[in-house]
Amino acid sequence: MLTLTFHGHACFTAEGDGKRVIFDPFLTGNPKADIPADRVPKLDAILLSHGHGDHLGDAVSFARRDGATIVATAELAAFCETTGATAHAMHIGGSHRFPFGTVKLVPAFHGGGIQGDDGSHTTNPCGLVLTLGGATVYHAGDTGLTMEMQLLKGRVDVMLVPIGDNYTMGVEDAVRGVEFVRPRVAIPMHYNTWDVIAADPEAFKKLVGRIADVVILAPGESHIVT
Ligand code: NI
Ligand code: MN
Repeated sequence: MLTLTFHGHACFTAEGDGKRVIFDPFLTGNPKADIPADRVPKLDAILLSHGHGDHLGDAVSFARRDGATIVATAELAAFCETTGATAHAMHIGGSHRFPFGTVKLVPAFHGGGIQGDDGSHTTNPCGLVLTLGGATVYHAGDTGLTMEMQLLKGRVDVMLVPIGDNYTMGVEDAVRGVEFVRPRVAIPMHYNTWDVIAADPEAFKKLVGRIADVVILAPGESHIVT
């Protein structure tokens, strides 16, 4: 069993097998966050899709607080290590079995800058495929629609998919992404945090139709995958 809890924007915690992992922990400064960073329970790992501030977020402070490992692309991992965090470097196409579960990095089309850096680090953004608690979750990160999503077809239980447009896929492309991946469940993210990424998750749900179950989570709400 895997419990996914939405914390606003692109931040989710995943809990299963007695482990707790967070995706893209942007809580401080996130107008939609349901809890402040200091109320997030102890983490085993922090998974990062890329280095933009609305994804890197509180990663380094969580890593220091909990002794948790940051999992990210090599360049982003190297940057996090310069701040005193423990990080595990990976890259696109690679998977690794950790004590908390298995992570694979997959392509995402987006910008590579790292927030708060002096410019010496940039990276490829990625999507994150986590297998934990007997379920496989694909956090698409910030991305446009890509043909590479088709490679995940039939291999994903839950797809966390950006729908906010402007910086990522909008609703129509996100629906095509769901068609490519064919998850059992799709959960929209990366919308309505700010006006520029305003989107209607009900319109997304309607367009996905019977291709997948769309679960719309308000910040603080959870979905249990059995
Ligand atoms: Ni971004
Ligand atoms: Mn973003």
